[in-house]
Amino acid sequence: MEDDIQEEVRSQFKDRGLGGWQLLQLTAGSGLALYAVWAGVLMPGFRRVPLKLQVPYMPASKAQVCNVMTLLKGRSGGIADLGSGDGRIVLEACHQGFSPAVGYELNPWLLRLSRFYAWRAGHHRSVSYQREDLWKVDLSTYKNITVFLAPSVLSLLQKKLLAELPEDALIVAGRFPFPDWTACKVEGEGADRAWAYHIQELRQHY
Ligand SMILES: C[S@@+](CC[C@H](N)C(=O)[O-])C[C@H]1O[C@@H](n2cnc3c(N)ncnc32)[C@H](O)[C@@H]1O
Repeated sequence: MEDDIQEEVRSQFKDRGLGGWQLLQLTAGSGLALYAVWAGVLMPGFRRVPLKLQVPYMPASKAQVCNVMTLLKGRSGGIADLGSGDGRIVLEACHQGFSPAVGYELNPWLLRLSRFYAWRAGHHRSVSYQREDLWKVDLSTYKNITVFLAPSVLSLLQKKLLAELPEDALIVAGRFPFPDWTACKVEGEGADRAWAYHIQELRQHY
């Protein structure tokens, strides 16, 4: 019975002539569809950002958010998440009393999603999601910074943070640590780990 079905399918493909050309078309079609999702959903708004600075969207896990918040315990004032994705870190920071709680993000879909989640949580007046390139934002007023970015980008971001942040600022990095800095505190394990850095200590060493 099974052999009959297999034979039928085989002969159908044979009849329709699914040869090399069709396979090539199928592969090219799938490739194009994947590219469309990449360009249209994950990376829109990045046209003016140099390729080496582009970081695709990947949301922080629940444990990662929790570890970031643990490292921020006892802190207050303004907070900015650089590359805020769907806004989960900013929203949680707002829950914990940080104000202003701001997310900078270039992807318009993620900004819409962030605003929807904030509205659903009843915090739409307390958080702010701004469509801005994180490299162009003036960070001098933020005492707390969170990032979840690629290691290659973090090494370039070090310079900006050292130059702009106030002396009492704390930086928390999720998933990837800053490559050239030693953290003052680490929370969590594996992919959910987070690292905290006091800007004052960093300025003494670097
Ligand atoms: C790995 S995701 C992290 C998202 C979020 N912070 C979280 O922890 O769930 C990095 C985010 O940074 C954003 N991003 C990358 N480069 C950016 C830039 N130059 N300016 C603003 N956002 C940027 C991406 O669109 C993406 O949503």
